[in-house]
Amino acid sequence: MIDAPLLSINDLSVSYAIGNERARAVDGLSLTLGAGQRLGIVGESGSGKSTLALALMRLHKPPAMIDSGQILLGGTDILRLDQGALRKFRWSEVALIPQGAMNALNPVIKVREQMADTIRAHRRDMSARDINKRIDELLVRVGLSTSVAGLYPHELSGGMKQRVCIALAIVLEPKLIIADEPTSALDVVVQRVVIETLKDVQAQIGAAMIMIGHDMGLMAQSVDHLAVMYAGRLVDQAPIREFFRRPLHPYSQLLISSLPSPDETRPLAGIPGMQPSLLDLPAGCAFHPRCPLVQPICREVMPPLETVEPHRRVACHVVAEAYNVRA
Ligand SMILES: Nc1ncnc2c1ncn2[C@@H]1O[C@H](COP(=O)(O)OP(=O)(O)OP(=O)(O)O)[C@@H](O)[C@H]1O
Ligand SMILES: [Mg+2]
Repeated sequence: MIDAPLLSINDLSVSYAIGNERARAVDGLSLTLGAGQRLGIVGESGSGKSTLALALMRLHKPPAMIDSGQILLGGTDILRLDQGALRKFRWSEVALIPQGAMNALNPVIKVREQMADTIRAHRRDMSARDINKRIDELLVRVGLSTSVAGLYPHELSGGMKQRVCIALAIVLEPKLIIADEPTSALDVVVQRVVIETLKDVQAQIGAAMIMIGHDMGLMAQSVDHLAVMYAGRLVDQAPIREFFRRPLHPYSQLLISSLPSPDETRPLAGIPGMQPSLLDLPAGCAFHPRCPLVQPICREVMPPLETVEPHRRVACHVVAEAYNVRA
């Protein structure tokens, strides 16, 4: 018997109402994630990564709206939960370290109080003594001294603040941790240490992880699988080694070729042209105006995401042709 995946996202679409128009920031996205797996999601700014992360927790706010699709986590249909069930589900089953989380810590409330608030919100029966014990335990787990609890966030470095955010995410030992650009505001050395902490903690509690980012080098060291988003769509997905060894989507090839080596960290850069506006997407493949391999069909027909090899899916006419998997 094949185990059901921990997370399965089916044909999810999320859009923002802008005037009378709707900008589809996540468009027909499907993917699955097994227990304990680490999936990276990369894509240029505006490709829909954070919109996806928020929708997975149902933390998206107007003008964002989930248009259609299904999100199953451990068999629970997240989009069908009522508000009460949703509150219980969040953080205990799935936790989000939102983009810019460390700047969202209240600078004038001590770390201990902020952590205690979060614990209390979910574990009303816990005594003050047990809460304090749990806070110390969590701080040690993310590599901080317990004395950090007595400090104000403004007294902490960026890396320390981000560790506090990781500690907050694992308070209830969720089955899935979503980390949205967990290290983007940190310098390179601190980035690596924080990523190591996140990976350690994730492995210790046996959670799966979705890590969102721009940095291909960090991804190479952090995840098992990589998914690439372009203008709201999933365009490429592959095991991380395969992705670096032989990128298939022309966009992925450009992402890799703009990197000096997978060991070096550097943000996505150097791809000619601009991502199109979601309100004015080109016909056919959204990437076609920037694609070095563009064919006439690419200007007319949107390429579906096709499985071209086990665990590899690509949305590209040229790749589909090469693999002889024409839709
Ligand atoms: N509140 C909003 N109102 C209208 N449009 C929005 C809103 N938030 C995001 N968008 C649009 O949705 C699209 C996806 O945004 P999102 O923040 O999900 O991208 P991202 O991939 O996380 O980008 P980044 O790498 O910069 O974090 C963008 O085109 C953005 O302009
Ligand atoms: Mg984002």
